[in-house]
Amino acid sequence: MDGNVGLTAVFGLNSIGDSRRSSSLFAKLFKFVIYTVAKHNIDESHGLSHAFNILLHANKIYESELTKYPELAKYEKVIYVASIVHDACDKKYMEVEVGLYEIEQLLFRENMGLSSSDIAAIRDIISTMSYSKVKQHGFPALGEYQHAYHIVREADLLCAYDFDRCMIYQMSTHNSSIEDAFDDAIRLFNNRVFRHNDHGLFITDYSKQLFPTLEMQCYERISHWRKLLNLSI
Ligand SMILES: [Fe+2]
Repeated sequence: MDGNVGLTAVFGLNSIGDSRRSSSLFAKLFKFVIYTVAKHNIDESHGLSHAFNILLHANKIYESELTKYPELAKYEKVIYVASIVHDACDKKYMEVEVGLYEIEQLLFRENMGLSSSDIAAIRDIISTMSYSKVKQHGFPALGEYQHAYHIVREADLLCAYDFDRCMIYQMSTHNSSIEDAFDDAIRLFNNRVFRHNDHGLFITDYSKQLFPTLEMQCYERISHWRKLLNLSI
């Protein structure tokens, strides 16, 4: 058997069907993310790769929760859409209302199979899910969409266990040197990221099980950067 064919069979590397390429839900949403990133000058810490990462975390949490709560299936699309567009209204880069308006326009304009209450819920989720909003106001009451809210919120929190991303944000938006970005990121991780669980921010089993591994990877990354930045070169 040809080696590549074998790997393809094992890992499922066949391409997806042609009919889904440009009109799929994901194709439309990621195109919108690329447009928004360019329009609002969003740096790579909150750009396309972050949208990929939150979607994959959200999918994992969703699948884990679905085994216990089959009724969650009704909210799968809301979870994925909210995840992908959630930073397209981030106050760090734009007026929140401007971003929310553009997201709503997209969701109403494109035929994504979302009801108007789904679209209202997506707006509610993405405008209340950030760490700072939760710190300030606690969790909102979103009725039937509450579980979807926590999944998207936790997926974004899991993306925060990326030390390089935190430095990239500091360097891109505050023009920090890498040394200053490192120190700022250490402060943020100590005050915030490493305390997510202590602050009761994880509700799902998936996140509770995963965060210690992510923390360990961060500690390794931090010590690697510390070694590099202390080199006498
Ligand atoms: Fe985010």
